[in-house]
Amino acid sequence: MKQWFIFLALAGLVLACGNVGSQGQFAANAGNASEAQRPNGEKIYKQYCVTCHGLYGDMGASGAFNLQESQLSLEERTAVITNGRNAMTPFQSLLSKKEIKAVAEYTFTFQED
Ligand code: HEC
Repeated sequence: MKQWFIFLALAGLVLACGNVGSQGQFAANAGNASEAQRPNGEKIYKQYCVTCHGLYGDMGASGAFNLQESQLSLEERTAVITNGRNAMTPFQSLLSKKEIKAVAEYTFTFQED
């Protein structure tokens, strides 16, 4: 019984530290993005876009467009991501211009040709 308690306490501690760790990493990433370094479009996509578009762009949650079938140019995608469209939220206050461009470029990887 006592051992269980210790185990749970330790597990809690590890979880708590894990959370702090990932937040720290997030802050570090945000710092990197503001530097000249090229943002990672895949990382940004997985952080901000999978909730609606899904890992492969075709999940369609809240009516999200199937990105595998998008015919938009890079400029047009950048505009949609920046300003939002209908149910899609704008990302201009969340992501830098470079990050938006990187994630817009990443959406082209879903296209099957
Ligand atoms: C809240 C859910 C939601 C999130 C989060 C979201 N989208 Fe969307 N997205 C949508 C919806 C809904 C549409 C269709 C908008 C419409 O009907 O006009 C859309 C449309 C798009 C389009 C236009 C496709 C086309 O061909 O018309 C692109 C590109 C796009 N999203 C990329 C992204 C990227 C990149 C992210 C992450 C930075 C993202 N979306 C995050 C819901 C979302």
